[in-house]
This record gives sequence, C-alpha cells and structure tokens, in this order.
Amino acid sequence: MPISAPEPLLSVAGLSAGYGKITVLHDVSLTIRPGEIVALLGPNGAGKTTLLCAVSGLLPWTGTVHFGGADLAGLSPRETARRGLVHVVEGHRVFTQLSVADNLLLAGYDVPRGERAARVDEALSHFPEIAAKRADKAGALSGGQQQMLAVAQGLVRRPRLLMLDEPSAGLSPVLVDRVLAVAAALRANGTAVLLVEQLIEKALRLADRVYALAQGRIVLEAATSEDDLPHRLERAYFGHDVPTALHG
Ligand SMILES: Nc1ncnc2c1ncn2[C@@H]1O[C@H](COP(=O)(O)OP(=O)(O)OP(=O)(O)O)[C@@H](O)[C@H]1O
Ligand SMILES: [Mg+2]
Repeated sequence: MPISAPEPLLSVAGLSAGYGKITVLHDVSLTIRPGEIVALLGPNGAGKTTLLCAVSGLLPWTGTVHFGGADLAGLSPRETARRGLVHVVEGHRVFTQLSVADNLLLAGYDVPRGERAARVDEALSHFPEIAAKRADKAGALSGGQQQMLAVAQGLVRRPRLLMLDEPSAGLSPVLVDRVLAVAAALRANGTAVLLVEQLIEKALRLADRVYALAQGRIVLEAATSEDDLPHRLERAYFGHDVPTALHG
C-alpha cells in the first residue's frame, strides 16, 4: 500500500458466515477506506446480502472485522450503527403508518434531541420529492419514494460507512441516478459507501473500487479505473466467458 493511502475504515479478513449449519461466505477479505465508494457485485445468491448482514451484526460470523480501528466481534446491529456503520437493508423497510418525518426521527432515536430536527432536514435535502411529503404517511409514498426514505433513514445517522443493498431495485432510471448521486455527495463529505448493485455499468462508473463475490468467495478485486472490467467481471462471476450477458 502506498504511504499516502489512509488506514482502512472497514477491514474484513477471513470472514465466514451463513445460516445455521450452511456456510455461505468463505474466507472473505475486503477493505474500505474513508471517503471511498466500493461496489460489491456478484450474481444472485452469491452472498452479497449475507456479507452486509454479517458486517453490520445481523448475522454471526467468524474471522475479523475492524471498523474505525475497533473490533466488531460480537457487536449487535445497534452497536455497529452507533459506531457509524449504517446498513440500509435490501428492500425498503419503513413504517407505513408513520409520517415521513417521524420515520426519520425514529431512525435518529439516539441522536441528541436538539440535533434531531436538523439531521432530518439534512437527510431530506438529498430527496426533494419526499421532503415535500414530510407530513404524509410513508405508506402514501410510491415504492420508489419509500426506497429513498429508507436511504434517508440511514443518512439521519450521519454514517461513516453507509452500506446500501440494491438501493436502485424497483426505481425508475431518474430515481436510480438520484440515489447514486447521493452516494457521490457523501463521498465528497468523506463518507464511505459500500454499494451492492445489479446495475453494473452504473456501479462501475460511480465506484472507486469493486469486489466481485461468486459462491461466497471474493473472485475479483479491482480499481474501477482498470481496463476491461465488465468482461473480467463476467469471467469472475461464471468462471468463463459469457459473450452477451451483463452489459446492461
Ligand atoms: N435466511 C436464509 N436462510 C438460509 N439460507 C439463506 C438465507 N438467506 C440467504 N440464504 C442463502 O445464502 C446464499 C446467499 O444469499 P444472499 O441473499 O446473501 O445472496 P445475494 O448475493 O444477496 O443475492 P441477490 O443478488 O439475489 O440479492 C444463497 O444461497 C441463499 O439461498
Ligand atoms: Mg441480496
């Protein structure tokens, strides 16, 4: 590593995790530096969601995970979130009976009381469509807007690392770009982003580095400035060339 490279914010080494007796992730290692956008790509069932859940404490794991210099072993999701590691889970999860603003206040339950309203405004500043509906019930938002609200809930916590699991799923192209632009704005503020995304070309355009997972193992790590990545990703996913797939 060059001397100028900052210390990793997140450092995962030799991680294994799964469900009961089934091991899904095998010996996964990955680092994310402050202010870096890292894309985590891979085919369906590769283990991307499982990896995010392990790191954020939703699933047990073995190996080592350090975040901001601290060992995350045994920490609950609440404790990892308190340290600034925020996981926006796959599929939007908002309280449909509560207003947009109350969903955001709830997400910032442990933010000092005097700061909460400002944090809500800060999070909403990224999403004008839902800012205009802050008094409406979240259940009255479109699916895409609920997805954006879920991302805004993560932003209320002012994360040091925001892990987004397919934030663009089900969004129109315009909204996809809006969500991805938020990631770029966060990077400009020094926030790191781990982005799981099916829209490979968009993810590669945005991210600084990429990891590919296949069958629970990291099969490729690259800077997105490197040549021929879509082709190399195909090979990494499938272990051989697939002439027409994945260039969407
Ligand atoms: N709750 C669960 N119990 C048992 N096995 C599970 C569970 N959730 C996921 N799995 C299995 O773990 C493996 C990895 O799943 P995971 O959801 O992490 O993949 P993914 O890369 O996020 O896929 P996708 O792109 O479809 O979201 C799959 O084989 C899946 O069937
Ligand atoms: Mg998934």
